[in-house]
Amino acid sequence: MAEITDTFAFIIHPIHPKRDVSRKFPLLGKVLTEGQVNYLSAYFPPVYISEITGVRSASTGREIRGWFIACPFTPKRMMELPVNHVYNKIVACGHKAEKLGARILGLGAFTSVVGDAGRTIAERLEIPVTTGDSYTITMAVEAVRRAALEMGIFLRESTAAVVGATGAIGSVCAQILAGDVAELVLVGRREDAVQSVREKCEGKRARIKAGTDMNAIYAADVILTVTSAIDAVIFPEHLKPGAVVCDVARPRDVSSKVAQHRDDVLVIEGGMVEVPGEPDFHFDFGFPPRMSYACMAETMALALEGRYEDYSIGRDLTVERALEISGICAKHGFRLSGFRSFERAVTETHISRVRERAIITRRTWSPAVGD
Ligand SMILES: NC(=O)c1ccc[n+]([C@@H]2O[C@H](COP(=O)([O-])OP(=O)(O)OC[C@H]3O[C@@H](n4cnc5c(N)ncnc54)[C@H](OP(=O)(O)O)[C@@H]3O)[C@@H](O)[C@H]2O)c1
Repeated sequence: MAEITDTFAFIIHPIHPKRDVSRKFPLLGKVLTEGQVNYLSAYFPPVYISEITGVRSASTGREIRGWFIACPFTPKRMMELPVNHVYNKIVACGHKAEKLGARILGLGAFTSVVGDAGRTIAERLEIPVTTGDSYTITMAVEAVRRAALEMGIFLRESTAAVVGATGAIGSVCAQILAGDVAELVLVGRREDAVQSVREKCEGKRARIKAGTDMNAIYAADVILTVTSAIDAVIFPEHLKPGAVVCDVARPRDVSSKVAQHRDDVLVIEGGMVEVPGEPDFHFDFGFPPRMSYACMAETMALALEGRYEDYSIGRDLTVERALEISGICAKHGFRLSGFRSFERAVTETHISRVRERAIITRRTWSPAVGD
């Protein structure tokens, strides 16, 4: 068998302290409290998780090899600690990747959010770095389009909202969706920043509204939410009956109260990506076999393409780059495959039930009641 020379590593980290620590260390996950895991995480070294095998290009037949490495910090810890302390830990993970032989490093979830979104990490490592955000953008938009279709929402006549519109991912998603819908509502935390995203979205199909009031998303038929908030920002009263919410954020933006109280809205998580070949991650990160997050897929696709360069780093991502990686991923056989909602697969029956419930609640529901 030919030696595999194209390689990558991907950094993951615990999001729900007890659950995620249990995935690698069942005993520790059992005995430690959530507070203890959060506290102790500051002193843990990077953790080797597993080898990733069997990822093979559908077009070239080339196979790559990779590794998962865990940065022990939770999102809460990454936000509390001095940014340099967090960089040091991520860079230590990167050095571990270099020693394993990785030729490109992907930054998962919050390791791509802290500080300057990968720039400092890239400067401090020998190997190139990507946050995976460009493919996350195209897969999120694709998931919105597909979910809208399945819910019977005609996007060209609909209102969409982007929450976290001033972020690296949110801003480019907004620019793409502005070409798809009749009205686009942008929500951010800072008025000046959200207005400058509005300018980038002007001149396409949609009329644009932009502001800082979360209640504005009540007008939306489809919502793409991608903030880096630690706690939920979208609650039952924000959503109109029949709405589709694509929650790309990790940790989630949509409160679990929505799952409990709103059986008339469809909440999906960013979209799972099917990985070409016979991928085996040798680690359960919560997805079905062969499936990955879009950011992992971007890292793998760059290795399959031999594009060993800093790809998606910093907060000024572009539509062009998102479309380019989308083409590279499609060429090698990555594709959007199915939805998940609050850790469960979304079935056709579930979608039909949401549609039926929305028809009923539309007659009586108003945003003042809800939660
Ligand atoms: N599913 C995937 O494959 C995947 C891949 C990569 C990243 N992600 C997730 O995507 C999310 C965003 O990533 P990003 O790189 O776009 O981050 P980012 O550039 O830091 O942007 C974050 C956005 O969230 C806003 N925000 C932060 N805290 C908030 C709060 N408490 N309430 C409301 N808005 C808040 C920010 O507003 P300001 O501009 O005012 O700061 C900004 O608009 C993260 O949760 C990350 O883990 C998911």
